[in-house]
Amino acid sequence: MPDRPVIWIPRRLSDATLERARRDYDVILNENDTPGSADEIVAMSAKVDGMIPCHSEHFSADVVARLDPRLRIVANHSVGVDHCDLAALRKTGIVVTNTPDVLSDATAEIAMLLMLGAARHAVRGDRIVRQGQWDSWSPSFMVGKQVTGARLGIVGMGRVGRAFAAKARGFDMEIHYHNRSRLRPEDEAGAVFHEDVDSLLEISDFLSLHCPATPETRQFLNADRIARLPRGAVVVNTARGALVDEPALLAGIESGHLAAAGLDCFAVEPGGNPAFASHENIFMLPHIGSATRTTRDAMGFRALDNLDAFFAGKDPHDRLV
Ligand code: DGY
Repeated sequence: MPDRPVIWIPRRLSDATLERARRDYDVILNENDTPGSADEIVAMSAKVDGMIPCHSEHFSADVVARLDPRLRIVANHSVGVDHCDLAALRKTGIVVTNTPDVLSDATAEIAMLLMLGAARHAVRGDRIVRQGQWDSWSPSFMVGKQVTGARLGIVGMGRVGRAFAAKARGFDMEIHYHNRSRLRPEDEAGAVFHEDVDSLLEISDFLSLHCPATPETRQFLNADRIARLPRGAVVVNTARGALVDEPALLAGIESGHLAAAGLDCFAVEPGGNPAFASHENIFMLPHIGSATRTTRDAMGFRALDNLDAFFAGKDPHDRLV
């Protein structure tokens, strides 16, 4: 390995991250902060020993096949790695890492914001006040769905799912979950395990998705599953847009079967789904789950910790491949 490895940082990471990266590496930074295209990723792979991409840089099988052997490590600045074809990367011998743990609380905060905002008409309320249309009050004005004490179904009880459950306990929610495997009792902290997805859906006044996007979870929330939710349920997604069949979600909103949805992730990003825009009971954010200063520093440092370990000849803590 070179004494001072060269790394590519395609997006403008936090100042603290860039400062630390420049201290220990020769950094090539994309000052424009635009997503790295397939051709850029391939071209940079011949110039650097490592990269810190975000989920905006796509390592498809095609891209991976064209990577230069100089590239030794892809230290992702994200917990989700659905932008990387891990099977293809595994074959190349390139090490791949992610940044788990450090963004769980920030993402759970956004899930809480979306759940509360969707349940209590945040979009409509903001619009009415902002546009000077708040000219009356009545007992039936903007009546929403109460979160406190309601039943919450969590799909995917990993780090973010558990962080969200911890926050939901503060609202005295009755917590139920589905996960590939049952948690240890101390991690469940009273949450009810549903081995069967349908039985979870049937009791979920609020449903929040926290599983990774994989071929198995693609379009997890489809029309059949939406129909199983109680009438008036609220859906929250801070994981990945690929988990949701968006036309089915829209149909659920338009029929009134779903009271509301809170979405931080969309099938198409950036941009989102224009068909959602006319529905004020869909509270939308532009994929900002991990966007706090504290968390962005922590993600950058975690990616650098992984690079440091790798270039010191050790196994990076968050090695996936
Ligand atoms: C993640 O880390 O996966 C977040 O979605 C931001 O990329």
